[in-house]
Amino acid sequence: MSRTPEAPVAQAGAPGRSAASVNRITGRGMYGNASRVNPPLGRHHRPLKRRVWPRVLAGIAITVAIAAGACAAAWSWWMWQHHWRSIDITVNGSSVSMRVDTTLGALMAGNDDFGAVPGRLLAVTGDVLDQHGGEPVSTAVNGHEIAARDRETTAVPEHADVTVESGKDTTEAHDVSREPVPHGSNIVIAGGAIQRVRQHGRDGVREIWVGKKSGKKADKGVTEPPVDLVVEPLNPRPAGRKVIALTFDDGPGPQSPAILDILRDKGVHATFFNLGSQAAAFPAVEQRALAEGHQIANHSNTHPDLTKLDKAAMRAEITGGFAGIKAASGVDTRILRAPYGAFGTKQWADASDLIDMNVLWDIDTLDWKRPGPNAIHDAVLSNAHNGAIVLMHDGGGDRSQDVKALPRIIDDLRAQGYEFVTIDQLMQMA
Ligand code: NI
Repeated sequence: MSRTPEAPVAQAGAPGRSAASVNRITGRGMYGNASRVNPPLGRHHRPLKRRVWPRVLAGIAITVAIAAGACAAAWSWWMWQHHWRSIDITVNGSSVSMRVDTTLGALMAGNDDFGAVPGRLLAVTGDVLDQHGGEPVSTAVNGHEIAARDRETTAVPEHADVTVESGKDTTEAHDVSREPVPHGSNIVIAGGAIQRVRQHGRDGVREIWVGKKSGKKADKGVTEPPVDLVVEPLNPRPAGRKVIALTFDDGPGPQSPAILDILRDKGVHATFFNLGSQAAAFPAVEQRALAEGHQIANHSNTHPDLTKLDKAAMRAEITGGFAGIKAASGVDTRILRAPYGAFGTKQWADASDLIDMNVLWDIDTLDWKRPGPNAIHDAVLSNAHNGAIVLMHDGGGDRSQDVKALPRIIDDLRAQGYEFVTIDQLMQMA
């Protein structure tokens, strides 16, 4: 409804005037006759309305127009600033223009992912199982990686440095079976009083991959190369020295203390190749020998001919000897003297992982035949040389001839200038 306050004849009851207006002007009931004959009462308001209202309204209109204009300008500026204007960024080092409100997702979609593609899913054999089954395309904005699910909500700021990279190929999930690659052996034992491992043998590993998706098998080759066993003979002859090693087998036993007494009184250190079963029976004797500076090594558990045993039994004899010694005196050694010196390439191949050395001898006194103390003494003295290893016994039978011969053996060797060494000491001089 349009209201025109400046209407010249605003008479009560005139067409267009509402009854309410009449009532307000006259103060009388809307049905009273006075309303028709009372126009002067409102007349003095008319000039004021005519002068002020148009100006107020015009002011309001102008204000509204200015405000609207300002709003429109602000809105336009804001829209330009945030949506319409074009900005420059770099993608993989190249300059690219885009609208300021473009998300990373839209940028990618509008540029065909800049040529980047997902990686492939490969079978273990290298065949392609899925052209796009590998790692997805990766993206980063200013060095921050953006996951695929976040690209549609990630704004790309002005001057941003965007990288888009193809996904890497991946290989299907697979089982790995590892098969041993047997190691070779280079065993040379002839001519050495000592046979030692220069390099322990170790089987290699061959990997076979079985694809869980493709079911295919792929030989991945030897992933760990085998290492050959190398055993070499050795005869230590320390230059400029005159050393000799006394060794005693088959103990510890009842006569070992008499031998130990002589060695202690003469200040000589020797090497005892003990049986595991004897060490278990005479642990205190082995402990005494150790405490008095002698070397303890392994002569098997029960003194069988190892070459007559199968592989498992032979290994059990060797490990049983080590275990008996360790239990008796705590000695941890990997040095063996095979009973009867019987230890060939087969035994080496079957047990080389258990030992570092097999120590034989240069001078056999044949004391076990009980040839008499003089014969034992003479066997040593007539064959003595620098680095010689002398075989005697402190166990395995009546050793009274050894007990009688030993003091003179020591005295006469010493008179010839010999130093007495253990096998360890001899090896350190080699
Ligand atoms: Ni023996």
